[in-house]
Amino acid sequence: MTDYKLLCRQLEIFAEEDPGFVPLLSNASALLWEALPDINWAGFYLVMKKDVAEDDDGSDPRLTAGSDPAASDASALRLVLGPFQGKPACIHIAVGKGVCGTAVAEDKLQLVPDVHQFPGHIACDSASESEIVVPIHHNGEIVAVLDIDSPIKERFDETDAEGLQKFVQIIEENISWE
Ligand code: SME
Repeated sequence: MTDYKLLCRQLEIFAEEDPGFVPLLSNASALLWEALPDINWAGFYLVMKKDVAEDDDGSDPRLTAGSDPAASDASALRLVLGPFQGKPACIHIAVGKGVCGTAVAEDKLQLVPDVHQFPGHIACDSASESEIVVPIHHNGEIVAVLDIDSPIKERFDETDAEGLQKFVQIIEENISWE
C-alpha cells in the first residue's frame, strides 16, 4: 500500500527548497512515479488561456484566467501538458473533454475504474485501463489537474483518492505560479 504520509512529507521538503511550479510539479510527478505501483503515467495538465502564445501583456495566464470575467469563459481555456513521467502524451485537452477536461468542467475528482466505460475518455496510451484525476486550485479557481493512469482496471480506490487529495493540498499550499 502506498505510504501517502511519507510522499506528502517528501513533497513538502521539495517545496521548501523551491516552490516554483516547474521544479515542484516535476518532482511531484517523479515521486508518484517511483512510489505508486502499477501505473503507466503520472503528471499534470495546466489550465491556460487558448491564445497564450499571442498573449503579450505579460500576465500569467493561469492567474488571470480566474480573475478576468472574459477569460473565465470555459471555452477560452484549455488544458496544456505539464510536467509528467511516462510516455509522451496529448498536449492539449479541451475543458469538458476526456477525464481531465471533465474534472475541470465539474471541479470534481474523477475516479475511473474502467476508462473504456468513461464517455469521451482520451487514450494517450492504449495500455491505460483506469485513471484518477484530482483538481488543483489557486484562489478558488482550478488552475491544473493531477492525472494518473494505470494499465490495471480498478487500480485506484478511496484510499488513493484521499492520499492524492492531501498530496495536491500540499501543492496548493506551497506552489508559486510566478
Ligand atoms: N486520459 C486522459 C488524457 C490524458 S492522458 O491519460 C495522459 C483524459 O481522458 O483526459
